[in-house]
Amino acid sequence: MTSSYDLKGRAAIVTGGTRGIGYAVAGELAAAGARVCVTARDPDDVRRTAACLDGVGLAGSVADPDHLRRLTDLALDEFGRVDIVVNNAATNQPYGPLMDIDPQEWGEAFAVNVEAPLRLVQCAWRGWMAEHGGSVVNICTEGARHVGPRIGAYNTSKAALLHLTGQLAGELAPRVRVNSVSPGLVRTEMARFVWEPGETEIASGLPLGRIGEPEDVARAVLWLCSDAAEWITGADLLVDGGTNVRRARITP
Ligand SMILES: NC(=O)c1ccc[n+]([C@@H]2O[C@H](COP(=O)([O-])OP(=O)(O)OC[C@H]3O[C@@H](n4cnc5c(N)ncnc54)[C@H](OP(=O)(O)O)[C@@H]3O)[C@@H](O)[C@H]2O)c1
Repeated sequence: MTSSYDLKGRAAIVTGGTRGIGYAVAGELAAAGARVCVTARDPDDVRRTAACLDGVGLAGSVADPDHLRRLTDLALDEFGRVDIVVNNAATNQPYGPLMDIDPQEWGEAFAVNVEAPLRLVQCAWRGWMAEHGGSVVNICTEGARHVGPRIGAYNTSKAALLHLTGQLAGELAPRVRVNSVSPGLVRTEMARFVWEPGETEIASGLPLGRIGEPEDVARAVLWLCSDAAEWITGADLLVDGGTNVRRARITP
């Protein structure tokens, strides 16, 4: 009997796959048997990660539509297929009150966090998924549902990504499933400015008593990519240690 998490024979593209959550996702998919193609801007990191995963990689920014086309072509040339796309790369800039946000920086945030996921899915759809099917997971954020100080551009772009997930799920069904995972605070570079100064206090306020590790998110992504989730599309899975649950434990 094979596990429904088994991805042998499948191929995946993971954006931002060289560190943090994306690296953990790429590792989980590879461990489940998938061939993995990663991208990020730093060429050394891409080379190292591709070698480590026995996969392939291409350095560049997801904000560049040509890069996304080349990335998809690389996966198709090397693996002959693209069954899985994980849109993970993102920027949390520009940071600050919306009244001070520069329109160009706002546009750059949306180019990376919203437009790139759409364009990469278009490439995968045209090159493989329209005919053969597949699974897409977009990495959103628990914060997409809330307002928060200084993080308005990021949260607004992630709320758009959340909506894009549902819209694509509706448009691409039944061939392609499209879901999202919304992490809470996870121990990565992007969120270091939050957890490094305040981890103990933040963790003590969470129902599950700790901040997240990249692997917590990666296991959820693996599940959504796999056949174990074959009847799930248009869903958003919160992986946040209970951030959204009001703390209600009765301590003796
Ligand atoms: N960490 C958290 O607490 C948290 C919470 C909620 C949601 N998330 C989401 O989780 C995802 C991963 O975040 P993370 O915390 O793992 O971040 P991270 O540790 O900073 O890693 C980001 C990855 O994306 C790559 N990247 C960044 N901009 C890129 C671009 N324009 N084009 C291509 N690659 C790019 C980075 O490599 P290069 O710098 O070399 O490009 C790196 O591989 C993001 O979507 C983020 O919004 C994170």
